[in-house]
Amino acid sequence: MAQFDSFEFDSTARRLKKVASVEDLRRLAKRRLPAGVFDYIDGGAEDERTLATNSSDFARLEFRPRIMRDVSQLDTSTTIFGKPASMPVILSPTGFTRIAHSEGELAVTRAAERAGIPWSLSTMGTRSIEECAAANPTGEKWFQVYTWKDRGLVEDLVGRAKAAGYGALWLTVDTAVLGRRERDVRRGMTLPPKLGPKTLIDGAIHPGWTWDFLQGGPITFANIVGRHEEDGSTAVTLADHVARQFDQALSWDDIDWLRGIWDGPIVLKGIQTVEDAKQAVSVGVAGIGLSNHGGRQLDDAPTPVSLIEPVRQEIADQATIICDGGIRRGSDIVKAIALGADAVSLGRPYFLALGAGGEAGVDWLLDFLREGLERTMALSGCRSLAEIDRDLVAWKR
Ligand code: FNR
Repeated sequence: MAQFDSFEFDSTARRLKKVASVEDLRRLAKRRLPAGVFDYIDGGAEDERTLATNSSDFARLEFRPRIMRDVSQLDTSTTIFGKPASMPVILSPTGFTRIAHSEGELAVTRAAERAGIPWSLSTMGTRSIEECAAANPTGEKWFQVYTWKDRGLVEDLVGRAKAAGYGALWLTVDTAVLGRRERDVRRGMTLPPKLGPKTLIDGAIHPGWTWDFLQGGPITFANIVGRHEEDGSTAVTLADHVARQFDQALSWDDIDWLRGIWDGPIVLKGIQTVEDAKQAVSVGVAGIGLSNHGGRQLDDAPTPVSLIEPVRQEIADQATIICDGGIRRGSDIVKAIALGADAVSLGRPYFLALGAGGEAGVDWLLDFLREGLERTMALSGCRSLAEIDRDLVAWKR
């Protein structure tokens, strides 16, 4: 007998019911967000080759699945810097998150707390260190800094993060200058976006986003507001902002300075060679963030997944290795762990999920990743992360 599906009255839940993958979330976000906003999130540097290979390199790996191993009980949990995490996944710091949804970082951090995974706040975040800590009182929170020329500002931010209970610090080291993101150049993208006739038309054809945007109040760089003339209250291009405010003279000596103001774990975000991973270990950082900023900085930079194994061989167990970039499925997580990563981190998937379905979209994504991780473990005969070893994957010939 035919059975009728019940009607879903909640429009977000209705939209998310039709989503089956991160690519579907991306398509939904593309429909809902103004073109300039979507391109700011989705785009990469120059010809976007690194953006593409960050993900497609995972497809160069195949599994060597083991069978009949009793996978009725699976454990995806781990510890990262001594703190428990329900799965080896971290949400990377992203700037200007409120541009996708008015709740911005608050929605993302609440979803991460529910999922039991670490979440990161960017210096260029649009909710303050303290607001986010109040929204996610029990979960693991990390803070990300760039080295600004104004070191007093960095010191102030790091002190606030410590006082608010953040447990680890990302130092992003791949942004001496901003990568050339040509979608943003073409659209004349500024943060916050300038309102012109084009934006108004774009807004009119994306009423859901526009209504939410207008209700949400002005978006600023919430952590530096009032501390800096470029705090997001006037429109600037990101490239100009980085050129004026970031310290191009950043060098290895600065790690000592940072350690003087932060006694918790430091993760260098943007390590792209074995040599630099080795040097990072020699200056005593706790974490190696294999990352090319999601293909937004140097095009034709090596992909994070291709670096895991050589870096692990070089540094052994001297630091935690995080593979940041290109993760789109649970199977990607398993592949990264098999090659020797301790955890993965990701940016666009949750940013686009936020644009596609707000906080419920981020919940959907984290459930999808967990299910994919469990399914891949079951299909490849691994009951725990410890059982995911190098023999599980091979580079395709
Ligand atoms: C970023 N990323 C980033 N990184 C950082 O250290 N500080 C920041 O403010 C930002 N801002 C930011 C904005 C947007 C829109 C994106 C997409 C990314 C990089 C981010 O932390 C992470 O390295 C990448 O997103 C990882 O690649 P995937 O997961 O997007 O493929």
